[in-house]
Amino acid sequence: MRRRWTAVAAALLVLVTSSCTGEAAETPEPSAKQRVEVFSWWTGLGEADGLKAMRTLFEKQNPGFTFVDAAVEGGSGDQARALLASKLQANQPPDTFQGHAGAELQGYITAGKLEPLNFLYDELKLRDAFPPQLVEQISVHGEIYSVPVNIHRSNVMWFNPGVLRAAGVNGVPRTLPQFLDALGKVRDTGRIPLAIGPQWTVVHLFESVLLGSLGTRAYNKLWTADADWSSAAVKKALTDFAAILSMTGPPQADWQPAAKQVADGEAAFTVMGDWAYGYFHNEPDGGLGKKSKTDFDWAASPGTEGTFMWLSDSFTLPRGAPNREGAVAWLKVAASKAGQDAFNPPKGSIPARRDVDTSLYKDYLAWNLNEWSRDELAGSIQHGVVANDGWRAAINDAVGIFMENPDVAELQRALVLAAKNSGQ
Ligand code: GAL
Repeated sequence: MRRRWTAVAAALLVLVTSSCTGEAAETPEPSAKQRVEVFSWWTGLGEADGLKAMRTLFEKQNPGFTFVDAAVEGGSGDQARALLASKLQANQPPDTFQGHAGAELQGYITAGKLEPLNFLYDELKLRDAFPPQLVEQISVHGEIYSVPVNIHRSNVMWFNPGVLRAAGVNGVPRTLPQFLDALGKVRDTGRIPLAIGPQWTVVHLFESVLLGSLGTRAYNKLWTADADWSSAAVKKALTDFAAILSMTGPPQADWQPAAKQVADGEAAFTVMGDWAYGYFHNEPDGGLGKKSKTDFDWAASPGTEGTFMWLSDSFTLPRGAPNREGAVAWLKVAASKAGQDAFNPPKGSIPARRDVDTSLYKDYLAWNLNEWSRDELAGSIQHGVVANDGWRAAINDAVGIFMENPDVAELQRALVLAAKNSGQ
């Protein structure tokens, strides 16, 4: 964000200087046919680096187009998604926007807001490039509506090894009871056991606890016609969630300050998606420059080993995009091997394509590529895979109320109702 403001300040300076001297500004505004407005929420540390790398490639390959960064600040796109919905509603779409593969995009598809991309999939032979289950998630009645640029993992527990040692936690917690035990030991040392950010990060934690407590089959069933949100197993999962929530520190402004508490040794754990890897690991102008396995470490969130809770950032072609040609050029970069290999290592994600250069994916990313190739799959709630936007919002509201008043029965009632009203 700071870098973008610096850019704005520099542009203003050029404007002021040129108007004082009477000279024309050096770079004329790009025309409507040149500018390609790319909408995302990747503005912060650990997020912006991936976008920057793909933008550089796009500009190199498309000198006739000008990339316009329409990113809106705020992790998980909470603010961006609201703005996007109103822009689409008013038929004023950006040229392309980032959305999540799965139920989230299906809302826009049903509303007729997206163009099918079958022509691109045919031209670039993308059906063979992506895993079949991913293509299925982004298709409706045989039409494909987005280009997945990555696979992120939601169920990751990040921790500070030094803080665990100091608290006498021997071994990484693998089950929810072991996790609670470790959290208690850290609390006894006076440090924050589990760092959190705003409400959406608690929903993120919630999905991992639900998966860890229920197990993969029962979790996956929650999103089908046979779901039973009123079961004793769900009640047990919510009771586990309440116990874990009681171990959290004060909510931070976003996921980065919560992760930073772990990196700085103020807190022991945070459960966050693997965009946190980019933040911990990237060089200090785009991340914290921390040392993997020493300053920070990771494991599957407790109870979820062997399951990959996935999500995928995907780019779209909105109907009525002001610069359709420019948007297609962006999609081609996002779909390409070179684009995915530029974007994903700094983003902390692995590529959606199956034919990339695996030697570029090191450390956490190598571990995660391997997990992706063999784990069972579960879809993320907060990041758009399993629940449509209305359902996700209702779950968010229920969790928000629970943060104020941790009443398990009330939370379960709200979740039963949210499922019933989801229309999914
Ligand atoms: C997710 C998104 C990720 C990352 C994260 C935190 O929803 O898919 O790419 O940006 O939010 O902002």
